[in-house]
Amino acid sequence: MKKVKIHLILCLFIFSFLSCNQKKEQKIETTSIVQSETKLDLLDLQAKNKLGKDTVVTIGNDPVYHKAKKFKAVSASLLIQTEIDLTKIDPKNTKIVFECIDGYKPEMPLELFLNANPYLAFEDVDAPKGTKWETIVKDGNEMNAEPFYIVYTSVLEKDTRYKWPYNLVKMYLEPLNKSTLELFPLKNRKLQSGYTLFKNQCITCHAINGIGGTMGPELNFPKSVTEYWKEKELVDYIVNPASFRNKVKMPTLGITKQQSQEIVDYLKYMSENKKKI
Ligand code: HEC
Repeated sequence: MKKVKIHLILCLFIFSFLSCNQKKEQKIETTSIVQSETKLDLLDLQAKNKLGKDTVVTIGNDPVYHKAKKFKAVSASLLIQTEIDLTKIDPKNTKIVFECIDGYKPEMPLELFLNANPYLAFEDVDAPKGTKWETIVKDGNEMNAEPFYIVYTSVLEKDTRYKWPYNLVKMYLEPLNKSTLELFPLKNRKLQSGYTLFKNQCITCHAINGIGGTMGPELNFPKSVTEYWKEKELVDYIVNPASFRNKVKMPTLGITKQQSQEIVDYLKYMSENKKKI
């Protein structure tokens, strides 16, 4: 009797192990399919005249220009639906990632984006004669929004769930939990708060193991910042970068010292989990 029971448990164990592994393989496969088929190179589409029908949109209070604006634009949701076969993906578990010229890489849930009636602006109607875009002044620096800028006519500018990327060049879809799976501190769940802070506040500009934005430097590979910064200085830097570097390009994000320590603890853990992706 006892022998049978042990056999049964052993069988169940082996079975669940096998089926778990199978699931994992399937997941990796769909991830790569999603990525290769869903990257939209916007300049390329524009050159081929494939952006769609253009229209003029009016933005009541543009969060980048801080005033009312008019743009020539095409429907971004229509463009995505024309270029990508959405029946092949699960929109509820997919996010859209925006790639900007300077490496800034914000993202948001695909469903939220598609339902917000987003527009891809390609020309600034208010631009001074002879120019295509009005100048944006940010932290004393002058720039403009070309070649593309995502805008919405019916989203409040203070609703931070919506991203308004400018200098946009590419958009692609990715499983919602991709970065979660790759960067989650599986071997030490106490570090989850540092991981969550990193995901919400840093990943748009910094990568770990190649996952994330490239506006700021990669923080883990091949050398982790925790290996060449003194720990205390690193914690202080993340709280207030301008106290270390003149004209620093990293903004002060309102991170507390305690939160910064949690991020650094997470970065130390990741330094033992380096991987070239
Ligand atoms: C808007 C983009 C942006 C965000 C968001 C951002 N950073 Fe940065 N970060 C930068 C840039 C750009 C630099 C290069 C700094 C410079 O101008 O010298 C940098 C530099 C750094 C450095 C120094 C790297 C080195 O090798 O010297 C660290 C560490 C760092 N950031 C950590 C963080 C952490 C942690 C967060 C999240 C709490 C964060 N950053 C959020 C843009 C950003």
